[in-house]
Amino acid sequence: MEPGDRNKSRILIIGGTGHLGKFIVAASARAGHPTSALVRATAPPPPATGGGGSSSRARLLQSFRDAGVTILQGDIGDHDLLVKAVRAADVVISVVGYHDVGEQMKIIAAIKEAGNIKRFIPSDFGNDADHAHIVEPAKATFDVEAQIRRTVEAEGIPYTFVSFNFFAGYYLPTLVQPGASGLPADKVVILGDGNTKGKKKTE
Ligand SMILES: NC(=O)c1ccc[n+]([C@@H]2O[C@H](COP(=O)([O-])OP(=O)(O)OC[C@H]3O[C@@H](n4cnc5c(N)ncnc54)[C@H](OP(=O)(O)O)[C@@H]3O)[C@@H](O)[C@H]2O)c1
Repeated sequence: MEPGDRNKSRILIIGGTGHLGKFIVAASARAGHPTSALVRATAPPPPATGGGGSSSRARLLQSFRDAGVTILQGDIGDHDLLVKAVRAADVVISVVGYHDVGEQMKIIAAIKEAGNIKRFIPSDFGNDADHAHIVEPAKATFDVEAQIRRTVEAEGIPYTFVSFNFFAGYYLPTLVQPGASGLPADKVVILGDGNTKGKKKTE
């Protein structure tokens, strides 16, 4: 760590190549935090003048390097590597995708073993799993998110759970149709009976 960074938390981001993660990596580096990104596969840096190695992933990883981000290659399933990465950080931010939220049990285990983390922010970034009233097929994932929250609490890990409902820019173009890549032309499926409230009534 540079001397000027002494007051800045060291941030480890898991899932930094994803839709949301890439913005979090860039914001962390821009804010002057010593930032590491655990990525599953690296790609060769794009050459200075045209030609191979110019995939969007390579360009993204190069933008991380240019911003001073340390890239660690590995998978959440590699426990020893994960513990080592966690030990070198103060804060862990997970931005793994919707389908991988259950994998965060492995991150919790690594944080527990490392024993040094001041804050863990698990991958939520959507409807509040404790207060949303979600119908299947999404309910199962929300149940897992809630289970992750309960495990973090039970393990005594300092945490922040971030909930901010839907990104209109992410879901509106497909009217929230699972698997759709564009605006549905003739049919829209409404889950449940159409009367389900999005949020549970709070006290
Ligand atoms: N509120 C909303 O409207 C909204 C919209 C979108 C997302 N979200 C939420 O934001 C969060 C992130 O979603 P996203 O869409 O940004 O995810 P995404 O684009 O699918 O990216 C997932 C990231 O996790 C990484 N990853 C997955 N499994 C891993 C493993 N075993 N080891 C290491 N890295 C792994 C992926 O790496 P690779 O690049 O190697 O695959 C990728 O970087 C989720 O909680 C999601 O529910 C909310």
